Amino acid sequence: MTLNLAETSRVRLRLDQDQTPFLDSLLVEKERWQTSFHMPGHKGTLPPAPKLVEYWGGDIHAADLVEINGIIDYLHSPKGALLEAQKLAADAHGADHTFFLINGSTVGNIASIMATCFDGDRVIMPRASHRSVYGGVVLSGAIPLYVEPDYIPEIGFPLATSAEAVARLLAEHSGVKAVHITSPNYYGYLSDTATIAHMAHAAGAALCVDEAHGSHLAFHPSLPTSAVSLGADMVIQSTHKTQSALTQGSMLHVNDGVVNVARVGQILSLLQTSSPSSILLASIDAARHFSVTQGEALLEKALRLAEAARAEIRALDGLWCYGEDLVGRGGIFSYDPTKLVVRVRETGLSGFQFYDKLRYDHGIDGEFADRNHVIFSITMGDTDASVEKLLNALRATSGCVEAADDQPEVSLPVGLPEMAMTPRDAYYAPSRVVAFEEAAGHISAENLIPYPPGIPLIVPGERIEPVHLDYLRYIRSIGGGVVGPEDKTLATLRVVS
Ligand SMILES: Cc1ncc(COP(=O)(O)O)c(C=O)c1O
Repeated sequence: MTLNLAETSRVRLRLDQDQTPFLDSLLVEKERWQTSFHMPGHKGTLPPAPKLVEYWGGDIHAADLVEINGIIDYLHSPKGALLEAQKLAADAHGADHTFFLINGSTVGNIASIMATCFDGDRVIMPRASHRSVYGGVVLSGAIPLYVEPDYIPEIGFPLATSAEAVARLLAEHSGVKAVHITSPNYYGYLSDTATIAHMAHAAGAALCVDEAHGSHLAFHPSLPTSAVSLGADMVIQSTHKTQSALTQGSMLHVNDGVVNVARVGQILSLLQTSSPSSILLASIDAARHFSVTQGEALLEKALRLAEAARAEIRALDGLWCYGEDLVGRGGIFSYDPTKLVVRVRETGLSGFQFYDKLRYDHGIDGEFADRNHVIFSITMGDTDASVEKLLNALRATSGCVEAADDQPEVSLPVGLPEMAMTPRDAYYAPSRVVAFEEAAGHISAENLIPYPPGIPLIVPGERIEPVHLDYLRYIRSIGGGVVGPEDKTLATLRVVS
């Protein structure tokens, strides 16, 4: 039976998807390998360290082909096989244009802010945005208007971005050039993107969606719809997170109308290496082909496994697995069933302790832990056996009620800190270090992002108050981490001079 690709994808395909043009061009070139007097310096001939071969399972150097004299298509001015591969990716996701990214969604988020905002323009964004969005704010000079986290203490992780909150900010402020939301978030919850797109456009702003955790959405009709098909102008996806590309391999989709696609290309050229790895690029091309040809069947299985696991976890002592029960709360419009967000607190163990028990006693590595939860991602790569192993580990660990972590919960400080300077001005201002205990009252020159919950406590330009120092002490005491500070021990903080 021949596969009718046009009917297997959620998106209506226009191109012949059963091709991998960039990967094919590399196979031809590898066959033709000549005597090289160009970079890379290993020339495909230097023997790799035996430990590298042991690690990689072969000699990967021979596949490390680079663009020379236009023989291999070039990421920054694609004209041939890479351009074709990007067109196929756009077709597969239903976008007008697609750029391959080799520095993850990180570079896509930065580029999306730079492409939509100049110095002094306003961007609406959830406070719980990934730090790369903050990177885009610093580099562009945009002024952030935050959608405050709808944070429900007994749940303890950031929910979605409510359309009402975006509407309020749009009504209160003029000169908003972009709305940048994260959907789905790390926990698999999505915002009402179609409504937010409509509002953003009515106000003359672009909508950018960080869909780092949703690159698979286009490939199964039961999954929530991707922002690409809901009116977003730019959509950033980590193809490596939920499809089969190698780590870093990602995509930035652009829809025509509001955003200048040529400028997006120029900005990506500014930000990405001039020596793009063919290995990463080929893995993105292959991942798209794999998802179009096999994604629906494998996601069907992933969905079945995840829903069965969710039902069983809910019945285990001390555990709960979130899903449809949070839809409608905190701006949540829909959820991705392939994320298993397991609340473990009622076992007496914290998420961190539970995570470690699974790792060291049962050979299971979760995606992520916070104080109350451990998150597991089910993907096209899972099997009955892998999910059964996870469930066995959860069955064994759920029973072991221990009073190990009895520290009282401390909630995130309510309200946003005072923005004394823009993030960009603070980032580039003269600065100095002060002792942690003496930092109250100073303007921060760095990010302070506690995990959990991953919501920035302080970003550059904001005034540090005693309540922030208290929260950082608490995060350290429960074994959490703080991303952003120069001094990882937190003995000192960098502040504006
Ligand atoms: C919501 C979100 N956006 C963006 C990123 C960055 O993605 P990447 O690792 O592909 O650069 C992450 C990484 O975890 C993320 O969680």
